Amino acid sequence: MSTTTLPTPSDLTITPRDRRFGREQATPRWWHGGNPYASALYNALSSTFPKGETFFVESVRAFRDGADDKLGGEIKAFTTQEAIHSREHLAFNRRAMDAGYDLSRLERDVENRLAITRSKPPIVSLAATMALEHFTAILAHELLADPKHLAGADEETAELWRWHAVEELEHKGVAYDTWLHATRDWTSWKRWKVKSLVMLYVTRNFVVDRTKGTLELLRQDGITGPRAWVGFAWYVLVKPGMLRKIAGAWLHYFMPGFHPWNHDDRRLIANYEASYPYRQEPPARKVRSAA
Ligand SMILES: [Fe+2]
Ligand SMILES: [Fe+2]
Repeated sequence: MSTTTLPTPSDLTITPRDRRFGREQATPRWWHGGNPYASALYNALSSTFPKGETFFVESVRAFRDGADDKLGGEIKAFTTQEAIHSREHLAFNRRAMDAGYDLSRLERDVENRLAITRSKPPIVSLAATMALEHFTAILAHELLADPKHLAGADEETAELWRWHAVEELEHKGVAYDTWLHATRDWTSWKRWKVKSLVMLYVTRNFVVDRTKGTLELLRQDGITGPRAWVGFAWYVLVKPGMLRKIAGAWLHYFMPGFHPWNHDDRRLIANYEASYPYRQEPPARKVRSAA
């Protein structure tokens, strides 16, 4: 594999932004504009991140041997970004617990799901990571492209999600390029078959598990039955309709010749950098690797 054939931009820089959020004050229970459905969905997502992102890092690093310097450097930067994301989402999850939520059932479900994937050959973990990183990248793109998704949210918490989304866009090609490196001897049919089957499996689990997690948190708010289902479905499918809006980008994954950087959306990163007073400094402290 030669890096010159990869669509990943040659001038891409993956910059870990070592930021901290929400340490100064409590986060309101319904931090997302007083909306229990929005708050529950984002909280359910966040509860998966510390363990999920550690799994992503270990799955990618298992195949870094033989990677060229560019990909090797990107894997390192990806590892640092995900380690900091885990740290910040752990802190966020603690604030959700301080606000009265019990996340233990959601965390247990993630552990069980990861244990099943870890019991398979390591290339399956890499394919699952690649699929989930595509998922994350298209969610991140939508979150940054349309301010409606975080409208009315607690500003500090909204900033945590925007920061995370920016870095997910920046490193969206790393798992994919690692997969291209790891499967360089495979036929394109075998690559397509495995990545597509794993994407279908991962998507089914992602939708089922996040729905279950969101409904569990709503139950803890006293919202159950049709009221919970309708409110949740309305939020994800209608307004602001995140799931509906990413459906097209999700389908791109199955197209021949797909690569995350076929769509260069770095303007969203540039907009973020320009609109926020934060300017990147080299990380002041060493960040422990998540692997
Ligand atoms: Fe992340
Ligand atoms: Fe990621």
